[in-house]
Amino acid sequence: MIIVNLKIYKEAFGEKAVKLAEICRDVSKESGVRIIVASPAVMAVELLKTGVEVFLQDYDEYDEGRFTGMVSAKQAMELGIKGSILNHSENPKKKGTIFKTIKTAPEGFETILCVKSVGQIEKWARRAKVSFLAYEPKHLIASKTASVSSEQPEAIKRAVEASGGIPLLAGAGVKSEEDVRVALKMGAKGVLVASNVVCGKNPKEELEKLVKGFGK
Ligand code: G3P
Repeated sequence: MIIVNLKIYKEAFGEKAVKLAEICRDVSKESGVRIIVASPAVMAVELLKTGVEVFLQDYDEYDEGRFTGMVSAKQAMELGIKGSILNHSENPKKKGTIFKTIKTAPEGFETILCVKSVGQIEKWARRAKVSFLAYEPKHLIASKTASVSSEQPEAIKRAVEASGGIPLLAGAGVKSEEDVRVALKMGAKGVLVASNVVCGKNPKEELEKLVKGFGK
């Protein structure tokens, strides 16, 4: 499984996001690897039309009612958006907010809860009902030379062990077949990627490299 997080990179504004979504859809179909686009809320419905699987990058602790500017998982689910990242290190939440937010997720809505340190994974795994936990060392995000796999393979392994059976995803600096292979070898179920695919000269080639790490 690969999550392609578009963030709000200008390379994924408007029509460019649609092109990236089509690439993700095609590479997923060709390889059989589940590839999900994590879209900004404003683009999500547009990207769904391509046929790719779309998640949000964040959602809020309110599902419906008199709340302005909030992103509702319930509303997203009704539109066909079946999951979201939550608590990304670029958009961290307070502990209480995370619990409140997760409770609003309707049945079948897949939350990927990002956790800062391996030490915190066990605590979250025990208390939070989420579909995935994600380990992303912040200092390696968008690195052009290193990745979670090259720098912290043992940490991925410990994160997997601490996750109590909740599938673990790893991210930060992931850019090669080898990065994916190492993450999977350490027990991760998939990877989160952003800069190397979204801002890359040839996003399709970059994604094709990554799916090879799954043996595809
Ligand atoms: O959510 C994925 C992201 O934070 C990883 O970013 O640019 O290191 O692939 P990047």
